[in-house]
Amino acid sequence: MKLQNDLVLRAARGEAVERTPVWLMRQAGRILAEYRAVREKAGSFIKLATTPELAAEVTVQPVDLLGVDAAIIFSDILVVPEAMGLPYEMVEQRGPVFPRTVRTMADLDSLHIADAEQDLGYVLEALRITKQLLNGRVPLLGFAGAPFTIFCYMTEGKGSKTFSVAKKLLYTDPAFAHALLQQITDSTIAYLKAQVRAGADLVQLFDSWAGILSPEQYSTFSLPYIKQICDAIKADAEVGHTPVTVFAKGAFFAREAIGQLNCDVVGLDWNMDIAESRTLIPGKTLQGNLDPCVLYATPDQIRAEVRQMLNAFGPQRHIANLGHGVYPDTNPDHVRVFIDAVKEFSA
Ligand code: CP3
Repeated sequence: MKLQNDLVLRAARGEAVERTPVWLMRQAGRILAEYRAVREKAGSFIKLATTPELAAEVTVQPVDLLGVDAAIIFSDILVVPEAMGLPYEMVEQRGPVFPRTVRTMADLDSLHIADAEQDLGYVLEALRITKQLLNGRVPLLGFAGAPFTIFCYMTEGKGSKTFSVAKKLLYTDPAFAHALLQQITDSTIAYLKAQVRAGADLVQLFDSWAGILSPEQYSTFSLPYIKQICDAIKADAEVGHTPVTVFAKGAFFAREAIGQLNCDVVGLDWNMDIAESRTLIPGKTLQGNLDPCVLYATPDQIRAEVRQMLNAFGPQRHIANLGHGVYPDTNPDHVRVFIDAVKEFSA
């Protein structure tokens, strides 16, 4: 089906756009009262994420309610460990927890490479339903966690400021780390290809914990696996035309190397200077990078910050977004100010 609004895809491919497209990481979530109502009805985050009709419903909400230029499928990066045999729980006020963790070679025996259709069929079904609900209005984005970020949760077992359990393993048992990273990578390749076949128009990799690694560790334990994923998607005759975005939060030191990956878009966080990033990442589209805290400021301040950001990125090869997911206590009216300002100032 031909899309009525394909700005995000054109910008991703480096084609000319009449204005800068805009969407927000975590746009399908707690900022919207309409999301909270559906989540209430579902009973829990996991129930919502595993019920394709409800996941599709909350995926489309920000398109209707906020006017974003893309929908991102409502799911979580932690569905991949679960599909590999390591289930997670979402604890209220605390975040994700893994009752079991994987920390030794022997622990790997309990895992398998995820079969996308069998183990993650509910996400693929949510993508197919969302595609119908969207009816060609805007592109549908798929996503997965980058292998290192998934490794962090599977070994640590919960969120952490330092992920020192996960990082310790990089030093004490690198062979185990590489073996687990490879299993995650193989699972993720199959999953992202299946997302595209189910209707995803672009896929994004979230390396949310990239910033805790040294440059050398990043090039050893994260980049090679992201590279495998990008290369595998691009080499696939059926899905290889799909744009790929790599967002490595905090990996300012790796921008040059990320710019050389077989991907189309590189996500920036707000610590990364825009002009410097353009120089380090030539020939690719950049996504980002407003500090999510700007949305706590007044509408006038938000508009001024958006103007400054748009001037720095320039009118082409930019997909406007925040530098990380929108915080749950953000006023949705302020999110609309952000979106409308991008549309107004870039037109
Ligand atoms: O962006 C979107 O709107 C699509 C949905 C989406 C969710 N999680 C839904 C979610 C996406 C893209 C993610 C990605 C994700 N999940 C990441 C990478 C992006 C990032 O933020 O760095 C990470 C690290 C996770 C793991 C995760 N899931 C954490 C740490 C938490 C708890 C923190 C929190 O915000 O509560 C989650 C839960 C989660 N995932 C929620 C949502 C809407 C909140 C749970 C709820 O509604 O009760």
